[in-house]
Amino acid sequence: MSSLTRRDLLRSGLAISASTLVAGPVSRAHALLAAYPGAAPAEAMAAVAPREHLLFDFGWKFFQGHATDPARDLDFGKDQGDFAKSGDFEFAREKFDDSKWRPLNLPHDWAVELPFVHDDQLQSHGYKPLGRAYPETSVGWYRRVFDIPKEDAGRRVSVLFDGAFRDALVFLNGYFIGRNDNGYAPFRFDLTDFLNYGGKNYLVVRMDASYGDGWFYEGAGIYRHVWLIKTDALHLRHWDSYVRRPVTQTRGTAGSVDLGTVVQNDGKQAENCRVKWQIFDANAKVVATAESAPQSIAADSSATFTAGTSVANPALWSPETPYLYSAVVTVESNGKVRDAERITFGIRDLKWDADKGFFLNGKPVKIKGTCNHQDHAGVGAALPDRLQMYRMEVLKSMGGNAIRTSHNMPTPELVAACDRLGMMMMCETRQMSSNAEGMAQLEAMVKRYRNSPSIILWSMGNEEGTLMREPQGEKIIADMVARTHELDPTRLCTAAVNEAYESHFSDGLDVMGFNYNLDVPDDWHKAHPKKPCVGSETASTVSTRGIYSTDKLRNWVSAYDVNYPPWAETAEQWWTFYATREWLAGGFAWTGFDYRGEPTPYGWPSINSQFGIVDICGFPKDDFFYYKAWWGSEPVLHLFPHWNWDGREGEPISVWVHSNLDSVELFLNGKSQGSKKVQPLTHLEWKVKYEPGVLEARGTKDGKIVLTEKRETTGAPASIRLTADRIEIDADGEDVAVLRVEVLDKEGRTVPTADNMINFKITGEGLLIGVGNGDPNCQESDKEPHRSLFNGLAQVIVQATRTPGTITVEAYTEDWPPSKLTARVTISTKKAELRPAVG
Ligand code: GAL
Repeated sequence: MSSLTRRDLLRSGLAISASTLVAGPVSRAHALLAAYPGAAPAEAMAAVAPREHLLFDFGWKFFQGHATDPARDLDFGKDQGDFAKSGDFEFAREKFDDSKWRPLNLPHDWAVELPFVHDDQLQSHGYKPLGRAYPETSVGWYRRVFDIPKEDAGRRVSVLFDGAFRDALVFLNGYFIGRNDNGYAPFRFDLTDFLNYGGKNYLVVRMDASYGDGWFYEGAGIYRHVWLIKTDALHLRHWDSYVRRPVTQTRGTAGSVDLGTVVQNDGKQAENCRVKWQIFDANAKVVATAESAPQSIAADSSATFTAGTSVANPALWSPETPYLYSAVVTVESNGKVRDAERITFGIRDLKWDADKGFFLNGKPVKIKGTCNHQDHAGVGAALPDRLQMYRMEVLKSMGGNAIRTSHNMPTPELVAACDRLGMMMMCETRQMSSNAEGMAQLEAMVKRYRNSPSIILWSMGNEEGTLMREPQGEKIIADMVARTHELDPTRLCTAAVNEAYESHFSDGLDVMGFNYNLDVPDDWHKAHPKKPCVGSETASTVSTRGIYSTDKLRNWVSAYDVNYPPWAETAEQWWTFYATREWLAGGFAWTGFDYRGEPTPYGWPSINSQFGIVDICGFPKDDFFYYKAWWGSEPVLHLFPHWNWDGREGEPISVWVHSNLDSVELFLNGKSQGSKKVQPLTHLEWKVKYEPGVLEARGTKDGKIVLTEKRETTGAPASIRLTADRIEIDADGEDVAVLRVEVLDKEGRTVPTADNMINFKITGEGLLIGVGNGDPNCQESDKEPHRSLFNGLAQVIVQATRTPGTITVEAYTEDWPPSKLTARVTISTKKAELRPAVG
């Protein structure tokens, strides 16, 4: 079955039957998500005085409207001519009573709060009732009252949404301000004419998730940050500032950079302007400066300023050393600073070679990547910034060095996390089109992120089967690539191609992207020897964490690396293919994390995909260790499955090891089961007759045992263990701690099969914002303070308030006497410098 046919199937709401899976044996997911400390992500572009860039997330109110019944939708659309009104939208005026609306802070995803509904049309959305058949849960209204001081009169004030799902209508003080249809690209409106200076202002946003942009869970609502931006009337134009390496300098370690920006004069008279740049190293020391020739800018017009400078002995950005510089760009008129902003950037050199793959800073680097959607357990699409870091740290700890933002423009905090942590990115736009909407999405993405060193490749989109085959596709892709090069002459463009390999579509790409189909690249490469190639999407291996035999009645897929839908591959198959061909730059496995929706290989009651190398919480499945062994640099010895097989005494159990050592010897209760030599890029396997006790693997390198790993038959659960990723977080109303929940037997061993319901009590200066357990079939609430363990694990996410203090998280179960079973973790929340925010 072809992948496009399968997608058609998925789009039509039909589940893929598990019988289409390639059957195979069994496995176990154990593995700690150790504490992942990490700094708060930097903003790629941040305000510098006199500009203000204010977080607009706190203090909103929310109301669930109705997509077809105006009476339940604030009478919106009741009469013809709503959009003929000027200033008459009562819900965005003082008198409107929002006292019954629910107070909340952004980011917010209302879809994750909805119950699951068994309707095959909802499969892509993870069975959340969104869409035209669910008008009562598809519209949400957000309202925020705020002050604007008198002194702001004369400044330019705009509101910026980093992305919201979907069909946003924005109103201020009774006036309609603007609309944005797609669910991922940022949008911004100038509010200057509509504000009430020296008084209260009423901002209202109606979001309508009746339509969708994708075939995966997309969330609903204002699920990314909102900002209020205030500048002088003479200001730097939005996202027009760049710092980049000269295009002619394709290689080497020289530190020359080209600088550019556009200054907009929205004032009433001409201004004589100069633009200055200061480049700072990571210790905030000025390492270079530049200044442009002065220009006069007439009222109501703009001018482009450019300059060049050089950073001596630059520290190069790479996954191992993600060194970041910043540039402060300032516009002055009559000796007075009128506007400024800070751009984070890195200095590094990219090269794509048709014979030798991808080079970073002159060295060949294999791309060890994963594709990822953006949702996480407990919070859906509305991730606090820290979770972006958390997720990237999980993928880095696996040896991953790259992600693909499939299939949409990412949130800025994900890009910032990748810049900071040294994760390369293939950054993808949502709509593959040269129509106005497609081009606007593409331009927003390229302008917004072109300063980020982590981005190594722009993706024009994914698997548009019709377009890629038809002559229109050649023209569309040519226009998209040309515009991308105009905005960013330093990076190449690709697209994720499936099936349409022989059309002329790929002629328009700088780098060919293959999705799946391992029988294609060799011949294709021979026929197109000058085109660099990357695996834009590979794998789609399916597995359920901690499950070791496929059970179609329970929608479980064994976690041995053997199961994949017909269009896909095992981890071992695809990586062996890509690792052994120098001309292939590497690739991106589908997917790093499980995600909601697209619950392949099953349908209801599965609400998640099972493609993840880690589950939706970030708990590793066993394949994680295959990648860690062959992607990472540390010695790896991972033994599975668990050894709790009560009732299966005497039966052969398939025992696997993922290791990059020389050889591994396996023991059961002290008795050798044989030693095996590790063949690169593969796993080891034994058949062992089950008897309870201790299974042990001893891994040898250069003749010495360097690692051992045990799986022990455990007793019944006897206590709970709670472990926080960090025990000190910022009291900023945004930071979160991510807690791992597990149960131990009397000997203190983790019980890998436990499924107890665990209750949580959160007290002090924090709130529970979500729970999860990685079970693709679990339909428990993400928001209630309890969760069952799935194969021994659950996750709790708590968020600090803005008052410093402590958060106490307690976990208890009704399954045993409460006295023994309460686990407690205290997280201190320290006074933090709050991001400037709208009061
Ligand atoms: C691909 C598609 C992805 C996802 C994946 C599942 O063809 O690009 O979005 O659907 O299949 O295997």
